[in-house]
Order: sequence, then C-alpha cells, then structure tokens
Amino acid sequence: MAVKVIIEETAAAAISVVSKLVLEAIRENPRLVLGLAAGRTMEPLYQELSTQYAAGNIDFSRVTSFNLDEYIGLAPSDPNSYHHYMQEHLFKKVNLRGDNIHIPNGVARDLNVESLRYERMIDKHGGVQLQLLGLGDNGHVGFNEPNSSFHSRTRAVTLSPATIKQNAAMFKKHKLIPRRAMTMGMETIMSSRRCIMLVTGRHKAHILAKVLEGRITTDIPATALRMHRACVIVADKEAAQELASVEQVMRQAA
Ligand code: GLP
Repeated sequence: MAVKVIIEETAAAAISVVSKLVLEAIRENPRLVLGLAAGRTMEPLYQELSTQYAAGNIDFSRVTSFNLDEYIGLAPSDPNSYHHYMQEHLFKKVNLRGDNIHIPNGVARDLNVESLRYERMIDKHGGVQLQLLGLGDNGHVGFNEPNSSFHSRTRAVTLSPATIKQNAAMFKKHKLIPRRAMTMGMETIMSSRRCIMLVTGRHKAHILAKVLEGRITTDIPATALRMHRACVIVADKEAAQELASVEQVMRQAA
C-alpha cells in the first residue's frame, strides 16, 4: 500500500495524532498552505487545534487555508454553510487572518468563474502543502461523488442522494438541504503535497475497507488517495475493523 495507515485505539487518540501532524507541519513551515475539510469527524480535531492554540502551542498567523468545499446557494452567514461551520469550529478560536482564509463561494453569480478563481488562488499560493480530508459514507472526498473524474478540478457538482442523507443530520432548523455544491476536484486534492485523511467510527468501517483494499476506481473517489505521493490515513479501531490487513498496518507509521 502506498498510502500510510495509522490505526489508533480510540477516536480521541486518532485526533491527537492528526493534531500533532498539523502542529509539526506549521512549526516546520509557519507559512503553511493548509487544506481544510468540514464534517462531523473534523469537529473534535478543530477543537483540539483550538485548545493547542489557547495553550500557546500553535500559531496560525501566517498560515493560509483553503477549504475543500461549500454548498451552492448558501451565503457565508447561513448557519448551514461551511463558511459558518469553519467560523464556529475553528476560525473564531484561532489567529488565522481573515484574508488568508479561502472557501469556495457558493453564492457566486458565475460558478465556473468562481471555480477558476479558486484554482488560480491555490496556484498563486504554490499549491496546498497539507490537505486534511474526511471520508464520505459513499467514498466521496470533498464533494467529489462516485464517478468523479480523477482529473477533475474545482467545479460545481450535484450531490448524490446518499450524501444528502449523510449530511441531513448536520442541518439546523430543517432547512432545505442544497442539492449542489462546489468542491475542489480530485486532481486538485491529488496535487496537494501531503494529505491526511481522518476516519473515525464504526459506520465508516465498510467504506474504509473498500478505500484501502478494493480496486482503485472512480466509483469510490477516495481510492485515488492510494496513488497520492504522501498520504496518511489515520483511523480509530472502530473504523479499521473491516480491514483484512489490520494487523499489518496497525501503527506501522506511528
Ligand atoms: C461531507 C463533506 C466532506 C466530509 C465528509 C465526511 O459531505 N463534504 O468534506 O469530509 O462528508 O463527513 P463526516 O465527517 O460528517 O462523516
């Protein structure tokens, strides 16, 4: 397996591993270009990074961030937008500068123009150096749904019924869940210098086994990560329980 897999006993331990990797990367390069993801898995990680910041262990003042995705039609102030999610879970708690934060604009008048602008902005910063990723129940990465081309770049996409169902639980006040989103493409993600995927919980076990041990296929976009030049998947034991090779990969990279 080209991808490194770290399996920890608990979700908290997996989060601590990822937090340490992020801390080290920022210490090594205070001007890190950091790719960020939304989703429930990331919430305790952002909590941990905020705690590390409050303890004086991390300085985001020169870090630049690029988020993976955003819903189409939700303004940044919308409580269900990823802008709002990031604000609540991380940005308002750490010293990332507002003008160093980048998230696709889901209410842009022209989504193609916005997609190109986003790609150019990433390029202008020399590319993402460390990309954080979650894993969708159907193997999506960002909002690259099954059958997304491995050569895709930032663009507007239609969400699958499975993803709409997965994310419905996160929606506040029963608002209508957007059917479309903007997302970095698979090639955008694969161009990052390093990436870390965090996968926790029993419900992710089936898809994680497919991602790591099945065929590399656009049917499961996350399988592309096995071709990434430097990708680490950090999982807890629950998420790793359907891996056939679990004994071999356990803490191999720790
Ligand atoms: C969402 C997001 C992804 C996220 C993934 C996992 O749809 N677009 O960026 O990583 O699905 O979400 P969760 O952590 O809530 O399982």
